[in-house]
Amino acid sequence: MSDKVYPVPAEWAERAYINADQYRELYERSVSDPEGFWSDAGKRLEWIKPYSRAKNTSFQPGNVDIRWFEDGTLNVSANCIDRHLATRGDQVAIIWEGDNPNESETITYRQLSERVQRFANVLKKHGVKKGDRVTIYLPMIPEAAYAMLACTRIGAVHSIVFGGFSPDSLQNRIEDAESSVIITADEGLRGGKPVPLKKNADAALAKCTGDKKMLVVRRTGNPVAWTPGRDLWLHEELESVSGECPPEEIGAEDPLFVLYTSGSTGKPKGVVHTTGGYLLYASMTHQYVFDYHDGDIYWCTADVGWVTGHSYIVYGPLANGATTLMFEGVPTYPSASRFWDVVDKWKVSIFYTAPTAIRSLMGAGDDLVKRSSRSSLRLLGSVGEPINPEAWEWYYNVVGEGRCPIVDTWWQTETGGIMISPLPGATDLKPGSGTKPFFGVQPALVDDKGQLLEGEAQGNLVILDSWPGQSRTIYKDHDRFEKTYFSAYPGMYFSGDGCRRDADGYYWITGRVDDVINVSGHRMGTAEVESALVSHPKVAEAAVVGYPHDLKGQGIYCYITLIIGENGDDGLKKDLVAHVRREIGPIASPDLIQFSPGLPKTRSGKIMRRILRKIAEDDFGNLGDTSTLADPAVVDELITNRQNKRGAA
Ligand code: WT7
Repeated sequence: MSDKVYPVPAEWAERAYINADQYRELYERSVSDPEGFWSDAGKRLEWIKPYSRAKNTSFQPGNVDIRWFEDGTLNVSANCIDRHLATRGDQVAIIWEGDNPNESETITYRQLSERVQRFANVLKKHGVKKGDRVTIYLPMIPEAAYAMLACTRIGAVHSIVFGGFSPDSLQNRIEDAESSVIITADEGLRGGKPVPLKKNADAALAKCTGDKKMLVVRRTGNPVAWTPGRDLWLHEELESVSGECPPEEIGAEDPLFVLYTSGSTGKPKGVVHTTGGYLLYASMTHQYVFDYHDGDIYWCTADVGWVTGHSYIVYGPLANGATTLMFEGVPTYPSASRFWDVVDKWKVSIFYTAPTAIRSLMGAGDDLVKRSSRSSLRLLGSVGEPINPEAWEWYYNVVGEGRCPIVDTWWQTETGGIMISPLPGATDLKPGSGTKPFFGVQPALVDDKGQLLEGEAQGNLVILDSWPGQSRTIYKDHDRFEKTYFSAYPGMYFSGDGCRRDADGYYWITGRVDDVINVSGHRMGTAEVESALVSHPKVAEAAVVGYPHDLKGQGIYCYITLIIGENGDDGLKKDLVAHVRREIGPIASPDLIQFSPGLPKTRSGKIMRRILRKIAEDDFGNLGDTSTLADPAVVDELITNRQNKRGAA
């Protein structure tokens, strides 16, 4: 941990929307008078029918019920597009930068309006109605944003599935959401290589029941298999519909999207976000955390398949009339200076990325950064996992040349928007700390018994009261929503993260305290990887834990017991990696596999993951109480194996 402090630069305190005094004042009001604060803040959106009340929320066990602006109505696409047309119709809304550096496109608000309305009419033509779920499995192309906004135009609920998920994962998500329309592309393009999206979608749909339509964007133009009657080229469909689609009136608490995310148990859960509070919160955090002003060029490098892309590529920026850059490619193609070349090409002023990208580019060397100018940059952001102070300092000094504040933003799929983060004109920075809560957010730390901890402390991070961007439920499973987030510490939202609060009241996220690991900023349930592994015919039992990984933050460590008679060799390891990639997707590739004749279990048969985590971390001296183990010899064997491997590596 770093004890350095970087004070707010004078010019930032001067020009930013929020300085330190304003932050204190507004924060104080936001928590002492949430109704007044959010009633006022809600005016940043354009409502069809104004709300009469902002907040109506309960975290009480058995009655978790979260509603914001509930009697108001609005339309998200009207807020993100129509209301800007009079003043900024010709301003660029989206800059699209292709995987290939020679391919790019700019889309003005007026063009966005035309394309989204047409797209919405295609959905309507194929029977999509308000409340229906549409699954989107697209690469990072403008059509992804059009598709999202087209759904919002007619009140359909989108469910985006990241292109790195396998056909099986896609199938599960399509079926859970009960979508009858799937939007995909012939292929994606990443780092010069095609990604077979249509082929994956075909494989997913082959296993789905019910009538489906597949809308296909032509991206690469390479030949793809075709199912007549089911598959439709988007460009052909667009020609057959009108260019006008009036926005549907949507209730503030009607669902806007479902986004599947991993939990500590079972299958991924469909996190549900609703319309009014989510949009308000995404827009407000985008404006203040990034201090977005007219004329800024804003770039968030996430994929729209994750919540970061939803809130901070599409909804927040467009609600604010911003210019948002959408990047199809990867940080290392054609070279590891791509990010900085793109910054120069489009004069990006606000740049938001993940620590895993920063660490990998740091490894590529300073020269690749220094050959670009980056003089347009004024603010940097980080999200997805704790940023280690070395990476923070490099980002600050080399990329930002010491002139750009870094906003380290802590939040989650479930929180909808940024929860803990510096405001660049208000908050002194400490490398590695998310610093202070956003308006209306009341973080607290509790011990394992749920006792609130005061002052300097380390514990479990909870949030004491609701904020407008909060997820309302898990799709079709409110019970699971209550159990997952509100049962560990009744009356509080439990984040699943550990956290430390220092003497200045700064928050330092230490990482997940549940069975979720964070691999390159992607959330992975260890239980999901385990169930993929045990579905392999040679695997008897598997236990998966995270371990520190230089680039990814955490790597995936798999302990595996084979069926009797099977032999653990390198060939089988490769086979298992391929198997998991097939079951879940490349993002779940195991990093280390250790075969073991047994796993440490309690006498009642429960796997002691605490011990497995310590062994994976090479922390053998610190295994804690092993007296409840059924067979302590298993542990010695695991350690010997681990050490041998280290020695060999
Ligand atoms: C988990 C949420 C929210 C966007 C991307 C990830 C970790 C996220 C930070 C940060 C330390 C962070 C937490 C959290 N996390 N941002 N700035 N510092 N940890 O969304 O997939 O829902 O994952 O990511 O552990 O619980 P997600």
